[in-house]
Parts: sequence; C-alpha cells; structure tokens
Amino acid sequence: MKILTFGASNRKTSINKALARFTATLVPKAEMEVLDLGDYDLPIFSEDLEKEIGHPPAAKAFFEKIGAADALIVSFAEHNGSYSAAYKNLFDWASRIDEKVFQNKPTVFLATSPGPGGAGSVLASAKSSARFFGADLKAAVSVANFYDVFDTETGRIAEASALADLIEAATALALQEVA
Ligand SMILES: Cc1cc2nc3c(=O)[nH]c(=O)nc-3n(C[C@H](O)[C@H](O)[C@H](O)COP(=O)(O)O)c2cc1C
Repeated sequence: MKILTFGASNRKTSINKALARFTATLVPKAEMEVLDLGDYDLPIFSEDLEKEIGHPPAAKAFFEKIGAADALIVSFAEHNGSYSAAYKNLFDWASRIDEKVFQNKPTVFLATSPGPGGAGSVLASAKSSARFFGADLKAAVSVANFYDVFDTETGRIAEASALADLIEAATALALQEVA
C-alpha cells in the first residue's frame, strides 16, 4: 500500500508533518511518501488569475500525487481556528481541477498543536467537509500538547493514549487493504 502523507502547513519543521509521517510508520506493510507543501509554490488563488493561467503546474502535481496514492494521511495545522493559508491556497487551486481533491482515497485526518486544543477546530472543519471533497475518511485523531507527547529523538509519539488512538487510525487504513 502506497501512503501519501503531508502536514497541511508549509513550515519546514512542521509538527503536523512529523505526526503524519510517524502515523504512516504504524501502518503495516506500507510504503510512504512525505510531501512538503513548501515545494508547491503558487500565487494566491483568484478566479481572475485562473482565467489567465488555468491550472498551475504545482496544483496539477499535487493533485496527481494524490491520484497515484493508495491511501492518504493528512495532518492539519491550525491557524486562527482554521486551515493554514498555504494549505487552503493549494487546496483551492487543486479543487478547480476537480472538487473531489481526495479522489475517493481511504484517508486518515490528523491534527496537532502545541496547546491543549490539539488543533481540534480545523480538524472538525476538515471532517465535516471530507465527503464533499472525495475523502473516504477512515479515522480522525487530534493530538494535544504535541511537544509533551512527541519524542523528538526517536520521532515517535511516546504518550500511551495518543499512541493508542494513532494505532487505531493506522489499523483502519491497513484493514482497508485486506477488505
Ligand atoms: C498565525 C497563527 C495562528 C495560530 N492559531 C492557532 C490556533 O488557532 N490554534 C492552535 O492550536 N494553534 C495555533 N497556532 C499555533 C500552531 O498550532 C503552531 O504554530 C503549530 O506548530 C502549527 O503546526 P505546524 O508546525 O504543522 O505548522 C497558530 C500559529 C500561527 C502562526
């Protein structure tokens, strides 16, 4: 199973990218590819610009990466209760290729932040709109207090309850394969 993972953030040291990557390691027999949204350089979406330039190559490349995967693990950064501007912009461009950006792929949504809210607001938004955008959502997990539960030396979530939630989510993706 080829799992595409990314943090929905363009921060180089994104904690969401780290969480998505770690969760992919919990899926048995999976191959993972980690995207860095910083590699998808795009102007701010506008319908006027779209009329001029059509679908930019970076949006097509992102859409095609999703299309080539068997499953997705996306972890959402929360900025002021919502998506990071970098992710929202990329998503808006990709949605003009096809509104079903997630292309019916089995998907796990995650979210984390340094605080006790665990980016729960953005995760709730992502969950509520998942089906409109073609995500076959298998599980959604928020991880609170990231720096308290993540071991930066091993790159693993060390806290038992968060780890159990992530194992359950990874198992839901793995079961997809044998179903
Ligand atoms: C503009 C801005 C707004 C933020 N708003 C929130 C917020 O609403 N809720 C939250 O839990 N963290 C918020 N944070 C802190 C982020 O959770 C933190 O920067 C986190 O590292 C972002 O994830 P990333 O490392 O994957 O980019 C905000 C950070 C920035 C820069």
